[in-house]
Amino acid sequence: MKLPLLKLVLSLIAFLGLNVPAFATPDLANGKKIDQQKCYACHAKKSGFGNGDMIYTRSDSKVKNLQNLKSMVAMCNTELRLDLFPEDEADVAAFLNKQFYKFK
Ligand code: HEC
Repeated sequence: MKLPLLKLVLSLIAFLGLNVPAFATPDLANGKKIDQQKCYACHAKKSGFGNGDMIYTRSDSKVKNLQNLKSMVAMCNTELRLDLFPEDEADVAAFLNKQFYKFK
């Protein structure tokens, strides 16, 4: 089966609610993996520090609360066409919050 079709089928299954428990708690390990695979390198380059974590901890951070964080993650995802599922977006946001931002 081609990958895009597989993705479609998987999101349909998720949509139909067969996978409900997966939404309940964010998967931090998955979030970390996504950050490392899809986000880190670009942030390292853009921040000019050669360290992809520093964009999250910079003093002029654009992120002031959990809602900001979610929309920033969504923005990078959509603008850059990273093709994350909503669950994956939630996982990365949860991971970044736990690791760096620490909002309540
Ligand atoms: C192609 C480059 C690129 C990729 C890939 C990318 N980002 Fe970004 N990201 C940026 C840039 C550039 C900024 C700074 C935007 C600004 O200052 O307005 C940013 C800023 C952010 C911020 C806000 C940081 C802060 O505290 O101010 C978050 C959160 C973020 N990105 C999340 C993600 C996540 C999660 C991913 C991967 C799923 C991702 N980004 C992938 C370029 C990228």
